[in-house]
Amino acid sequence: MDWGLLDRYAKSLIKEAGHKIRVSFFSEIEIDSKASANDLVTNIDRQVEQFFIRKIKNDYPDHKILGEEGFGDVVRTLDGVVWLLDPIDGTMNFIHQKRNFAISLGIYVDGIGVLGYIYDVVNDELYHAIKDGGAYLNDERLPYLSSIPLSEAIIGLNASWVAPNQYMDHKKTIELVQSCRGTRSYGSAAIELAYVSTGRLNSYISMRLSPWDIAGGMVIASEVGAVATNLKGEKQQLLGQDTFIVAVPSLHKDILDNYISLKE
Ligand code: IPD
Ligand code: CA
Ligand code: CA
Repeated sequence: MDWGLLDRYAKSLIKEAGHKIRVSFFSEIEIDSKASANDLVTNIDRQVEQFFIRKIKNDYPDHKILGEEGFGDVVRTLDGVVWLLDPIDGTMNFIHQKRNFAISLGIYVDGIGVLGYIYDVVNDELYHAIKDGGAYLNDERLPYLSSIPLSEAIIGLNASWVAPNQYMDHKKTIELVQSCRGTRSYGSAAIELAYVSTGRLNSYISMRLSPWDIAGGMVIASEVGAVATNLKGEKQQLLGQDTFIVAVPSLHKDILDNYISLKE
């Protein structure tokens, strides 16, 4: 496989999809809800996913596609080349704010992330990485991340995980909030992973993410020296929902050892 060629191909699809999303700002979008009233989807999420799938199926018919909106393949294993796509990560932001959302794409080969992309459409910021080839923001190489103590760290954390919840002992999360320098919540896992990779955030934690939210960002984060696992410290399995943490190794360990207590 010519990874350079596939990289250029993926970027051209992402840029074209980004253009479609920007154009959509000038027409009325159709909004539906999925699993719950606040789980939103629009005709643009669907159209963008269908655009990718049409192109990929035509040009790489033996590749599989796992897309959030369900137009891709039923993917039961990560064997072969698998594209993990979220056409719009941060749909609520897309609808309410017209910013703070991204196209998120990871290309995996036999379960290993080889190419990763996060496209912040509104800011025209494309983050990408090639395994062992470094991570980039609009073609500028991102520096390796330095260690940082929790007391100086900004943590990406949704307020839901500080309120009582079914997944974790929220009192430990309160201790985490009180021990770090600050917290932020951007409402797009992909944007939060991009921010960890650039050092704008030092960690991002979630109790429930899907493979397409993190597949691209994990490749990027790994190329700048961050570790991404579930909250048991295990490798992400990427075929279903899981908990998530990303940070440089020392901070990742400190948070997991001292501030996360999962219910089970
Ligand atoms: C959501 C965003 C959000 C995260 C949710 C995701 P969507 O993705 O990444 O930040 O907290 O768990 O589902 O639905 O906007 O693609
Ligand atoms: Ca998502
Ligand atoms: Ca989405």
